[in-house]
Amino acid sequence: MEQKKKSSYISARESRKITRFNRKVTRKLEAQRADANKDPKLYTTKMKDENNVVEFDNMCTYFFTDVGTVRAVDGVSFEVPKHSTVGVVGESGCGKSVTSLSLMQLLQRPSGQVVGGEIRFNKGDGTAYNIVNTPNSVMEDIRGNEISMIFQEPMTSLNPVFRIGDQVDEVLFLHHPDWTKEQVKARTLEMLEMVGIANKEGVYKMYPHELSGGMRQRIVIAIALACSPTLIIADEPTTALDVTIQAQILDLLQNLKEKVNSSIMLITHDLGVVAGMADYVVVMYAGRVIEKGTASDIYHHPSHPYTIGLMKSKPVVGHKSDTLYNIPGNVPNPVNMPNYCYFRDRCEMRCEQCNGDYPPAIKINDTHVVSCYRYIDKGEVLGYPKAVNVEEL
Ligand SMILES: Nc1ncnc2c1ncn2[C@@H]1O[C@H](COP(=O)(O)OP(=O)(O)O)[C@@H](O)[C@H]1O
Ligand code: SF4
Ligand SMILES: [Mg+2]
Repeated sequence: MEQKKKSSYISARESRKITRFNRKVTRKLEAQRADANKDPKLYTTKMKDENNVVEFDNMCTYFFTDVGTVRAVDGVSFEVPKHSTVGVVGESGCGKSVTSLSLMQLLQRPSGQVVGGEIRFNKGDGTAYNIVNTPNSVMEDIRGNEISMIFQEPMTSLNPVFRIGDQVDEVLFLHHPDWTKEQVKARTLEMLEMVGIANKEGVYKMYPHELSGGMRQRIVIAIALACSPTLIIADEPTTALDVTIQAQILDLLQNLKEKVNSSIMLITHDLGVVAGMADYVVVMYAGRVIEKGTASDIYHHPSHPYTIGLMKSKPVVGHKSDTLYNIPGNVPNPVNMPNYCYFRDRCEMRCEQCNGDYPPAIKINDTHVVSCYRYIDKGEVLGYPKAVNVEEL
């Protein structure tokens, strides 16, 4: 919805107008989705590249809230190749979690909606799901079996009133209804051992509160891996843990990835976390991808002024400094995004061109893509992110 006023104050009249608009749009989107859900042709598509597990293609996820439309993710495109780790980095609120929740179809509906673009998930038989239109009955099968998720706070994923063993068993039973009780228990113990739990028989009988934070996160990882998923989404998996435990959990994830042969989408606000682990890095800012490339592209040749700022604000071992660099200014309001570069008001390298439209994505080498006018003559222009005009929905 077009917001002409600069002030964030909303009159009763405007508020009613927003509510009416939200109701109309979300009803329409839900009806369209219900129609698309009925016909497998409408949620079956083809991958652009068979070597990818997931392809986000200009995905837009908006929240229709009482204060207006929040453009949480606005035209995001990136891929997760098979058997690789992709780090998705950006400061809090830039749309990392919304991107992963859109892929799992776990958005808070009807207010949260994928309003544009495609999310392709490789079926492995030459076709792909377009997750945006996939019905819930199919999603239930995909979640856990094909894609599983590890959240920041392990206690939110574990049920405090059930024993650890029962919680891992339950997931296995759900996905292998034909297994016997003994088979399931044996597999659970095997999983506990795999995630580095020494006293597996003892832990099998414990409740979550009897374990430390690091141990609980190991259990959550065991549950996530129980069905050997093709893709593991780890959303800030170590943010709630101490630094030494963080390193252990990241090592564990990396080792297990090789064992289970899956890909990882590692979401974090901390560039240091993805440094040793990711093959590819995607940097997000205010709901858009501003730079992406191999880990080496991003770490050795950060190109977008925001990424350069992020790298400067990271402490370096062996490098003495009294103060850490701090990127000045704030992220723009997601209800009222400007039409020029979202980073302009904070950018120390802006030039005349930056007052124009939002910059296009520019390919500066085979793997490295940057959205910034500084590179406009230095590579192939790939195109502009496509925002959705909600008035036309
Ligand atoms: N349920 C919701 N309703 C309204 N806005 C939301 C909701 N969930 C997320 N947002 C907004 O979407 C943006 C991106 O959020 P999120 O993806 O959670 O950020 P992060 O990168 O920290 O994971 C934020 O501006 C946030 O306020
Ligand atoms: S486009 Fe301009 S304002 Fe935006 S990041 Fe690049 S130099 Fe800065
Ligand atoms: Mg988040």
